[in-house]
Amino acid sequence: MNIPLKLYREGEANFYSTDLDYLERLGISYTRAPVFYNPRMKLNRDVTISLFSTLSLKTAADLMAASGVRAIRLVLEGGAEHVIANDSNYLAAYIMRKNVELNGLFREIKVKCSDARLEAERMSWEGERVDYIDLDPFGSPAPYIDSFLRAVRGGGVIGVTATDTPPLFGIYPDKLHRFYGIWGKKTPFHKEFGIRSLISFITRVAARLDLLATPILSYGREHYIRVFFRIRKSPSLSSHAIKTSLGWVECCNDSWITHKGLEIPERECSGMLMGPIWLEKISDPELIGKMDRSLSDELKVLLDQLSLESHGPPFYYVLDRICSRLKVRTPKINEVIVKLRERGFFSSRTHLEPLGVKTNASIKEVEEIIEELS
Ligand SMILES: C[S@@+](CC[C@H](N)C(=O)[O-])C[C@H]1O[C@@H](n2cnc3c(N)ncnc32)[C@H](O)[C@@H]1O
Repeated sequence: MNIPLKLYREGEANFYSTDLDYLERLGISYTRAPVFYNPRMKLNRDVTISLFSTLSLKTAADLMAASGVRAIRLVLEGGAEHVIANDSNYLAAYIMRKNVELNGLFREIKVKCSDARLEAERMSWEGERVDYIDLDPFGSPAPYIDSFLRAVRGGGVIGVTATDTPPLFGIYPDKLHRFYGIWGKKTPFHKEFGIRSLISFITRVAARLDLLATPILSYGREHYIRVFFRIRKSPSLSSHAIKTSLGWVECCNDSWITHKGLEIPERECSGMLMGPIWLEKISDPELIGKMDRSLSDELKVLLDQLSLESHGPPFYYVLDRICSRLKVRTPKINEVIVKLRERGFFSSRTHLEPLGVKTNASIKEVEEIIEELS
C-alpha cells in the first residue's frame, strides 16, 4: 500500500509524516500510520519544550521519536545543543533523517534506527548520558524504565508518557499489579490514583538502581498521563523517599484515608487498601510558576491550573457523585470552592475532573456546604 506523506508545521518545526487525512479516508486509525504523528499530542510536546528550556538543559534523547518532531522542536525552541533521535521503525528513521535535513539540523540531531532499550543501554555503557530523556511508547512505559533511567545524567530529567490508562486507573487491577506492582481498583479519584501509581513504580525502579527519582511535573489528559522526574544518584535519599513518601489509600465511598509508610496499615473503613502509591507532591509549584507559557494557550491554561492545585493535598471529591448520593442538585463548583476557602480550607479545582474539588476539608464538611448551596 502506498501512503502519501504530508508536510506539517508544529511550533517552529516543518516535517513530513503520514498524511493523516488520507489515512482517515481509508478508514485506518492514526495509531497504525507507517510513520506515527498525533497532532493532539502537541500539548505534550509543548510541556516538554517549556520544561527543557526553563531548566536550561542542553542534551536530550528521544528514543521513540517517530517523525522526529519532538527532537526538532527541542533544538529549535528548547535550546537543545545535541539530541539523539531514534526509532526502531526503519521507515520512521528514514523520514526523520529527511526531516532533520529539512530543518538544517544535521549537526545537532543524530538519527538512529535501533531498539530504544538497546540504544539507552549503549548510551549508559559508553558514557553518553543526556540531560533529558523522553519516553513516549505505545501503551505502558514499564518495560523501558530501567534502561532509560540508566541513560540520564545525574541531575537530569526523564519525561514519561503512559497511554495504558485502564490498568493505571484501576480498571484492570490484574494488569496494574502485574506491570506496576500495585494493588488497586477503580475509584472516584482514579485519574490521580493512576498518576500516583506510575510515580510509585518509577521511584521503586529508580531505587533499585540507587537513584532518587523526584516528580517535578505531573498531569493527565485525554488518553494519557505524563510525569517528569528529576534524577539524582543517592542510595540514602532514595531509601528515605521509598520509606516516607509511599503509602496506602483506602477508598471509603466518595472519600479516602491515606496511610504513609510501607507497612500494611489497619483499615479504617470497609474500602479496599490500595497501593503502595506516591503520597507526596506530584508537581513542584515553584518550577511550574517559572515555566514559559508562550507556546500555546492550552499550555498556559494547564500550567496555571497545575500551579494552583499542586499546593493541595492528594485526591479530590467528585461533586456530582456526592450530590447524586445525597439526592440533591449539583451546585456550581466555583461556589463550593469559595465556601470552602471562606471556612479556611485549601480548595481548588483539579485539571483531571471537570467536577473534582481538591480540599483538605472532610467529606462531612463538603456535604454540609453542598446541602447549603443546593
Ligand atoms: C507514540 S510514538 C512516539 C511519538 C513521538 N515521540 C512524538 O512525539 O511524535 C511511539 C514510537 O515508538 C516506536 N517504537 C515502538 N517500539 C519501539 C522500540 N522498542 N524501540 C524504538 N522505537 C520503538 C514506534 O515505531 C513509534 O514511532
